[in-house]
Amino acid sequence: MKRIAVVPGDGIGIDVTREAMRVLRRVNDVFAAGLEFTEFDWGAEKYLREGVSLPTGAFDMLRKDFDAILFGAIGDPRVPDNKHAAEILLALRFGLDLYANVRPVRLFHERLCPLKGTGVADVNFTVIRENTEGAYVNAGGVFKRGTPDEVANQVEIHTRKGVERIIEYAFQFARRHGKTKVCMSDKSNVMAYAGDLWQRCFKEVAARYPDVQTSHLYVDALALLFVRQPKDFQVVVTNNMFGDIVTDLAAALQGGLGMAASGNINPNGVSLFEPVHGSSPPLAGKNIANPMGSILTSAMLLEHLGLTGAARAVENAVTACVNENKTTQDIGGKLGTREVGEAVVAKI
Ligand code: IPM
Ligand code: MN
Repeated sequence: MKRIAVVPGDGIGIDVTREAMRVLRRVNDVFAAGLEFTEFDWGAEKYLREGVSLPTGAFDMLRKDFDAILFGAIGDPRVPDNKHAAEILLALRFGLDLYANVRPVRLFHERLCPLKGTGVADVNFTVIRENTEGAYVNAGGVFKRGTPDEVANQVEIHTRKGVERIIEYAFQFARRHGKTKVCMSDKSNVMAYAGDLWQRCFKEVAARYPDVQTSHLYVDALALLFVRQPKDFQVVVTNNMFGDIVTDLAAALQGGLGMAASGNINPNGVSLFEPVHGSSPPLAGKNIANPMGSILTSAMLLEHLGLTGAARAVENAVTACVNENKTTQDIGGKLGTREVGEAVVAKI
């Protein structure tokens, strides 16, 4: 038995998670996977109703009672500054120490790529984004706010332990997936202190993996080469903020945010799987959001739980649907969210 906590969240998070669940229930039937689901209503409605984002004890409960978390998206215009999003998603990333944000970038059909003459063999790499420090620690302060002398200070934190473990994770990931190249990206020509730490950690860890070829790119050059030479990349490791930015760019190479999957991994604890797209309030509840990002995310969850055959079956079903244009409008099809879910299920 595998216990899955399901957090659909807000907006289209609810629409797409419903389809991912449809697929996982099919996996239960076909592969006797023994997945058990418990749904949680964390999100804007609960926050507005009860003032609660994450209930007390949520971290302990998730760690103790669950094998994985399937997450939708959080964000709602009724909540000022989307305060509940930080208190749910970022809090889970930090509180459960989900330090590796794994974002595969894979093109399922050349029709989906905005680059001329770029086929499925040209876009197939993974970005490993540090997920618990950097610019996301909310450190800093403000002085003389609202006056002409206002000063804002936003501090990044990079720790020896944090940098070393994410780089180590990237090399381990490469080995596990038969990849031969790891590229580290930073901005060490300008951000000298953090850059120095990343550079030294990368060299030290790389020395332990002589079988893996290494390279380094400043993040601006990385952005350029993702567009010009996506084929050059296999595994890319970078900090939290750069990883956030370049994975949106990378999502465009695979057909947009609707196709992008991710895992927030703690190799020694419970991990959380979420599509890269947000809650997209204007599309919510209209049966138009693309559920493939969430469905591919559930394939990552299956693989993480050791259900490799089921994971491949889900990915193959998505590939087949894309090939037959059984997709939502964002990638050129005519189907609704639910119909795409049903089409994927029919292929498993
Ligand atoms: C992502 C999102 C989040 C992030 C937001 C919603 C806080 O953009 O997962 O990429 O910046 O990490
Ligand atoms: Mn993002």
